[in-house]
This record gives sequence, C-alpha cells and structure tokens, in this order.
Amino acid sequence: MTRITVIPGDGIGPEVTEQALLVLGAFGLGLELDVLDHVNAGTFLETGVALSEVDLKRITGSAGTLLGAVGDPRAAGTRYARDVLLRLRFELDLYVNYRPVRLLDARLSPLRRAGRREIDCAIVRENTEGLYADIGGALRSRTEAEVAIDTEVTTHLGVRRVIDYAMSAASRAVCMVDKSNAVPNGGRVWQRLWRAACAERPDLETTHLYVDVAAMRLVQDPTQFEVIVTNNSYGDILSDLAAELAGGLGTAASVNLNPGTGFGLYEPVHGSAPDIAGTDTANPIGAVLSAALLLDRLGHRDEAAAVRAATDRAVADGRCTADIGGSLGTRAAGEAIRDLLA
Ligand code: NAI
Ligand code: MG
Repeated sequence: MTRITVIPGDGIGPEVTEQALLVLGAFGLGLELDVLDHVNAGTFLETGVALSEVDLKRITGSAGTLLGAVGDPRAAGTRYARDVLLRLRFELDLYVNYRPVRLLDARLSPLRRAGRREIDCAIVRENTEGLYADIGGALRSRTEAEVAIDTEVTTHLGVRRVIDYAMSAASRAVCMVDKSNAVPNGGRVWQRLWRAACAERPDLETTHLYVDVAAMRLVQDPTQFEVIVTNNSYGDILSDLAAELAGGLGTAASVNLNPGTGFGLYEPVHGSAPDIAGTDTANPIGAVLSAALLLDRLGHRDEAAAVRAATDRAVADGRCTADIGGSLGTRAAGEAIRDLLA
C-alpha cells in the first residue's frame, strides 16, 4: 500500500483537506492515509514544537504529504510557520515549488478578451534560496539611523536544478524570468546556466523575460506561456498574479517537490483563512487540485485527469463556493465534484 501523510493544519485547512481526501477516496487506489492531525498551532502553543522528530520520520517515510494550511492568529510571528512549512521545505530539500495555473471556466478570469481564455501554464519557483533564505541582519533598529539587510542567495546548484526541472516539465515552451539587468551578480548565474540548458533542449521554445515585463505579458496574454521558471521571490509574486487570472486563491494548487527523491508536499496556495474558518464557506478546489497533482506523481494520471475534469464541470455548472460565483458550502462543493466523478 502507498502511504500518504496528511497534515490538515489550521483554520480552513482541515475543512478543505477533508474534501480532498474524500475525492481521493472515490478511487479504489488502496492509498493508506496517515493523518497527523496534531501538527497544528494548538500543539505549537502548548508544547512549543509543532512538528516532532517522530512526525518528521513518518513524513519522510511516506510517498508524499497533503497539507491543508498552517497559520493561526494566536501564533503570530514567523516561528510557527517556519517550524512546519520551512522545516519541511529545507529538510526534505523541496527545491521546486510547482504551481499549475489553469482556467477552470471562462467566467472566472478577469481577462475577458476573446482568444485569451486557454490559460494553462505553470510557474516553477525556486523554493529554497533567493531573497527568502533569511540571511541578513539589522543595525540600529528603530532609530532614524537604522540599517536592514536581506541578502539574495543565488547558487549554481540551486539555479541549475530548478531550470532542469522546468525543462523536464515542459512539452512546448519554457520562459526564464529574472531581473539580471538590475540584479547583476545572481543574474549572471541565471543567465549562464539558462543558456547552457537551452542549448541542450533545441526542441523547446525558450525565451527570457525580465520580471516586470513578464508581469505585463501575463496580464496581456497568459496563453503564450507554458512553463515559467524563476527565483523564489519573483515566483511567489507571479504565481499569485497568475492564480488570480485563472480563478483566484481558492482554486490554486501547488506542490513543493524534490524531483530527485520524488517526495512532494502538496498544498493549496491559500492560507488558513481564519476569517472564514468553521463557516463551511472555504473553496475546496485548491486542495482537491493539489490532491490531483499527487495522483499524477503516483502515476495515477487517468484519475488525476478525471478529478480535473469533474472540477471543471462542477464550476461550469455553478456547483461551487461563493468566492467563484456559486452558493454551495465547502462540503457540498466537494460532494458536487465527487458526484461528477461517478
Ligand atoms: P489566506 O490565504 O489565509 O486568506 C486570504 C483571503 O482569502 C482571506 O480573506 C480568506 O478568507 C480568503 N481565502 C483563502 N482561502 C480561501 C478559500 N479556500 N476559499 C475562499 N476564500 C479563501 O491568507 P492570509 O489571510 O494572509 O493568512 C492567514 C493565515 O494563513 C496566516 O497565519 C498565514 O501565515 C497563513 N498562511 C499559510 C500558508 C500555507 O499554509 N502555505 C500560505 C499563506 C498564508
Ligand atoms: Mg504567496
């Protein structure tokens, strides 16, 4: 049996994860679900540790992890999220953040121009370094003489492996996005390794854009992109922009992946949404489509395609939550997808 670990987490995390698990359960795939429902803010607040060594062993020994969301207003500051999410990203070296962006229904996009509706691309974001490596410091804090420095870390290995993954994930075109005209040192590493990778894949259409132009082009016509590869911070921003073009936060899926080991942490792009937690209004689609990414990775491609098709159908029929124009609750929206699978 394939063992999958599950971290429902906080806020709407357990609500959307429940729907994703019910969708997975609709196929008789013999997946063993190992639920770590104590990995949450409550445990962190009580014991100071959200994710123990024992938990980490259960996770690393599994075929992948489905995560709802972590974050709680009672555990403000960055320590709790670091303890769970960043710890998994770094310790399991999940160096690719893969975020597919696919328009579920034409009415969901703010882009209404004809011919601009076939939005189906993916952002491949470097997930372990860049500006988010937490290297820096501050001097004379809270005075008018204060100095604050966050260093952007760019490594040869980090850039090469994420570009390699992007190339392997594309069938048609890859666009590398950087800001090498203004951030020249790291930019040179990206530029050199990109050119080398392009030379090895003459079958792919390869292009380069500066990040500001890429943002413009995404809004002008997102259909021109298949795979976009970029660093940690630009990937963070561009993927939210792209998610909004394709239906918004409630529908966006992602996986934090180590292509070497094949291990992935699958999670909706949204957070724990404490403002709507417990109200049965959260959109389960981000979590459901994250589970579809897991099915793909496990080799269950037909099942993954069926989940995507059922999700599209449910949205087209308006059988969805209010954030995307429906009137169903979380549970009923999940049920609509399961109905259409049958
Ligand atoms: P958020 O994504 O939780 O919520 C932003 C807004 O979108 C809220 O108004 C929320 O109601 C709405 N929203 C989010 N998901 C939705 C869904 N599935 N259906 C309908 N509406 C939805 O981001 P926010 O408010 O900045 O953060 C809340 C907490 O989540 C914080 O503690 C934050 O640290 C954490 N967080 C965790 C993430 C993760 O687990 N990977 C990612 C982002 C935030
Ligand atoms: Mg973000």
